[in-house]
Parts: sequence; C-alpha cells; structure tokens
Amino acid sequence: MTERAPHATLGLSADEVLTTTRSVRKRLDLTRDVPGDVLLDCIDIAHQSPTGSNSQRWRWMIVDDVDKRGQIADIYRANFEAAYAGAPEPEPGSQADRVNQSARHLAEHMHEVPILVIPLLADRMGEGTPSGRQASRWGGILPAVWSFMLALRERGLGSAWTSLHLSNERDVAEILEIPYDDYSQAGLFPVAYTIGTDFQLAKRPPAEEFVRWNTWS
Ligand SMILES: Cc1cc2nc3c(=O)[nH]c(=O)nc-3n(C[C@H](O)[C@H](O)[C@H](O)COP(=O)(O)O)c2cc1C
Repeated sequence: MTERAPHATLGLSADEVLTTTRSVRKRLDLTRDVPGDVLLDCIDIAHQSPTGSNSQRWRWMIVDDVDKRGQIADIYRANFEAAYAGAPEPEPGSQADRVNQSARHLAEHMHEVPILVIPLLADRMGEGTPSGRQASRWGGILPAVWSFMLALRERGLGSAWTSLHLSNERDVAEILEIPYDDYSQAGLFPVAYTIGTDFQLAKRPPAEEFVRWNTWS
C-alpha cells in the first residue's frame, strides 16, 4: 500500500467490524473534516477484494465540493420524497419507523455530509444484458464497496449505502462529468466521522431460516 501518514484505528476484531458496520445516518458528524488520506487508505483496503479476472474495473468519485454536494443532495432528497410519498406510515416506534426516520434525516442533511463517494463500475450494461453477466460485473465491484465501508468503520468513520439517486444517475454523471456510457454508479455513500464509535449488532433471523442443504425442498 502507498505510504501515508497513519490514521487511528479502533482495534476492533474482524467479527466486530463485520457485525457492527451499520448504516450511519443520524450519527454522521457533519462538523468534522475528513482527511483525504483516510479515504485513500480505505480505498486501498477495498482494492484487496476479489474481482472477476483480477480486473479492478472500477473508479471512485470523491466529492467534497460544497456546490456539487448540494446539487447531488437535491436530487437525492427529491427522489427520497418521491419514493416515500404515499407510502403507508409504519407503526410508530417499530424498526421500519426507525429506519424511515433515519433515512429521512439523511435525505434532509445529505448536503451537509462532508464527503460523498460514488463507486463506479467501468461498464454500462443495457436492458438486455444477461443476468449472469450482470451478476459477474456487479460482483466485481460490490465486495470492494463493502470493504470500503468496513475500513471506514475501523477508522471511526461511517457511511450508509444509498441508491435513491440512481434513477437520476445521468444527471449526477453530468454534474461530475462522469462518462455515463462507460461508467455505472454503484450507489452514493455519504462519509463522515461517526458521533461515538459504539454500534450494535442488528437483529436478524438465524441462518437456519435461510439455508437449504443439498436440495430446495
Ligand atoms: C443496495 C442497497 C441500497 C440501499 N439504499 C438506501 C437508500 O437509498 N437510502 C438509505 O437511507 N438507505 C439505503 N440502504 C441501507 C439500508 O436501508 C440498510 O442497510 C438496512 O436498513 C439495514 O440497516 P443496517 O445497514 O444498519 O444494518 C441501502 C442498502 C443497500 C444494500
């Protein structure tokens, strides 16, 4: 890896990082600057993930420009409002309610998040692309994106995987001058130091409920 000034790490175990890297929205510290080097460290780590044919067909667009962040956040917020308009209100206090409130908070503050990251797959698959090729191409970048989030967590930063801007992917490509025909956006990742570093395991059903051994029935 490239030599850069070292950044503090939390010293979590691998399992702790894997099980406590949550979607951070309300606890993004909007007041603290994020040094570029720490992002580059996380991207170096992300690049250790597997890629089809060892090809690393990706780029990372990092946006810290206030004006561009604002334009992207406007698109994100509009799509959030459209997605949630008319949706049934979840039961107050339920997990769905908490996720909704957290998602709304992010949508309302996206422009204030110090860094927005857009991972880019070096491909543009048309409507008729066979699903196997889609799986292979997306599978060639998404492990890197998750590794990036894990590496952020270990350094006291956080993010949330978001996708709501993607119905306006071309507009965001124009703002950032991304060659739209050649690069597909994998998502939009607001990045900041987290307020506190204590995150919990999520409640998930046990693996047994999801597993079949040898046959479907
Ligand atoms: C493919 C994908 C798309 C997502 N899109 C959004 C999004 O647009 N906005 C958002 O606030 N969260 C988004 N999320 C985050 C999920 O809501 C979140 O992972 C889920 O609620 C579980 O919470 P956790 O990550 O804290 O365990 C997305 C996650 C994934 C993997």
